[in-house]
Amino acid sequence: MKRILLTFGLIISLLTPLACVRKNEGGVSDNTGPIKVGVYVDLTGATAGFGQSTKNGIELAKDEINANGGINSRQIQLITEDDQGRPEQAKTVVSKLINQDKVHAVLGEVASTNSLAAAPVAQEAKIPMITPSSTNPKVTQTGDYIFRVCFIDPFQGAVMAKFAANSLKAKTAAIFGDVNSDYSKGLTEFFEREFNRLGGQVIDKQSYAQQDRDFKAQLTAIRAKNPGVIYVPGYYGEVGIISKQARELGITVPILGGDGWDNPEIWNLGGEAMKNTFISNHYSVDDPSPSIQKFVSAYKARFSGTSPDSLAALAYDAMYILADAIRRAGTTDPTKLRDAIAQTSNFLGVTGSITINKDRDSVKPAVVLELDPAGRKFIYKETVQPEGAAAAASPAAAAASPAAATASPAMAASPAGSPASAASPGKNTNSAPGASPAPTK
Ligand code: PHE
Repeated sequence: MKRILLTFGLIISLLTPLACVRKNEGGVSDNTGPIKVGVYVDLTGATAGFGQSTKNGIELAKDEINANGGINSRQIQLITEDDQGRPEQAKTVVSKLINQDKVHAVLGEVASTNSLAAAPVAQEAKIPMITPSSTNPKVTQTGDYIFRVCFIDPFQGAVMAKFAANSLKAKTAAIFGDVNSDYSKGLTEFFEREFNRLGGQVIDKQSYAQQDRDFKAQLTAIRAKNPGVIYVPGYYGEVGIISKQARELGITVPILGGDGWDNPEIWNLGGEAMKNTFISNHYSVDDPSPSIQKFVSAYKARFSGTSPDSLAALAYDAMYILADAIRRAGTTDPTKLRDAIAQTSNFLGVTGSITINKDRDSVKPAVVLELDPAGRKFIYKETVQPEGAAAAASPAAAAASPAAATASPAMAASPAGSPASAASPGKNTNSAPGASPAPTK
């Protein structure tokens, strides 16, 4: 009898840890206790400006959600890791967040190359990851636990090709890209494809590597071809210097870029050379829509007057989307949470109405901004809707703009003066009261 009891006890003690595996490891439960969210960003490397804004946006959202009672009575706890902007380090810190800290979900990274390095770790462990801002299409192709709340680069590249061909009437372009960045390589391809489709011609392609500081040889080669515009799909650290050296070489044509330019450091690096330059981006801080202005003032109040850039806005949205999914799932069980994130539909964030599609990407409008070095600010030019979204997503813009009706079937642009269309009123079917940045009426 004693032996039977002992054996029985042994079996129970062997089975218990299996049954409670998520409860016993590091005190993590899927239904009670803090919700642990791992954040990985660059806080000390070449793209530290991206990481700081992202961290701020996530923290602001987290504090608002917690102050409103948390999610299903649970508080969010952030665990933030610095990956120094290096892909290998991104992979290491995400492993640590998942295996050591036992996070329920991961938010990050910004640079697509870093997200691409770390996403397989989250996918393998089956822990949902949402990147706020990595736009390269391959990121979410890693697997069914990887999501994003921003648009993707085939759209972003096409937006600027269209702006070059239609708004600037450029017939030829040169592309100057970053060889070490998946983001830059993708945009090079997508810009060229759309520019060709519109009848333009890419007459020169040059490349640089991140951390380079002398770009004159490539710029001299570009100057010799005399392109109508130069497209530089890079990050602010190089782009500011590239623009400056281009102007020093007497290149006066418009220089175009993407979201990677969005950091105040660009004014210090590029100065006056940032005149006659334009970018595609995720939102405009000047958008008068109440939900955006509410976010902008909350952010400024919290971070000593700093204006939120698009990274901060996307990060804020990513935290709210995750919170909304946890609330709907009723648990942080990874599979149920993954399914709830995948079902996100018409979530009204500060960067627009967010619906996660079958590829786990977000289909959203982009804005075109002009750089104003004198005022050190980005001036709103137009909003470009993704395919099929023009009428539904932005009735005001469509009505106000005859251009919208005549634009190419792939995209419809609305003119400057209606920035509200960037975050046009989608119906927010998901957000809980108090857990949503939706406008207060
Ligand atoms: N989209 C960029 C990438 O994928 C990151 C980025 C987003 C940078 C938004 C600035 C603003 O690498």
